[in-house]
Amino acid sequence: MTWRASVLTLFPEMFPGPLGFSLAGRALQSGLWSLQAVNIRDFATDRHRTVDDTPFGGGAGMVLRPDVADAAIASVADERPLVFLTPRGRCLTQQDVRRFAAAPGVVLLCGRYEGVDQRVIEARGMQEISIGDYVLSGGELAALVLLDATVRLLPGVMGAAESAAEESFSRHLLESQHYTRPADWQGRLVPQVLLSGHHALVAAWRQAEAERLTRERRPDLWALHTSATCPAPVASLPAAP
Ligand code: 6GU
Repeated sequence: MTWRASVLTLFPEMFPGPLGFSLAGRALQSGLWSLQAVNIRDFATDRHRTVDDTPFGGGAGMVLRPDVADAAIASVADERPLVFLTPRGRCLTQQDVRRFAAAPGVVLLCGRYEGVDQRVIEARGMQEISIGDYVLSGGELAALVLLDATVRLLPGVMGAAESAAEESFSRHLLESQHYTRPADWQGRLVPQVLLSGHHALVAAWRQAEAERLTRERRPDLWALHTSATCPAPVASLPAAP
């Protein structure tokens, strides 16, 4: 069955955008997922096709009208999770991404202006999701990020190399470094162990480096990794001789 994404936006031309390339693009071409960009403006009812209005209580910016947003949602809503992309939302995690990939698809509402009337978010029971602590001009780039992260997990989309990265992150660990030829580049040498051909030693080195990097760069992830809820590695490593 095809995984289905519907994106409600004032800028439908932004889709598929970068998702038309690489892994997601090939999967879109081959029908592993589908993408429908819906123009919210098509659901305006007045002559001027107005979608926004001034905020009650005053202040800067404009607010997306609840009637227009709801009509756009009603045109696509089914059993799929409904997501509103907003910097006010909970931050997207790999766990959310796996949950979206396991659903029949998603419906994404992209905010613009100051926001969307909160009553339509509540009435539709939408999940409010952010992609990080910084402010974008609208939800479209966040929707593209959510879709890229999700589509690569769909059956048949990812290759083995990408799978390894997902597995690493699922264990709340950053991946270790990568090297290729030449073994000596401008006097910088590849770590000797990687040239040894000793698979168990290589695996142990990569695990140690992943742990060191995570501890140094991401104490928040490290805390999750070392907690009881973290899944164990697939195979235990033999002790180094
Ligand atoms: Cl989902 N939308 C906007 N406008 N800014 C953001 C965001 C979303 N996530 C992080 N910043």
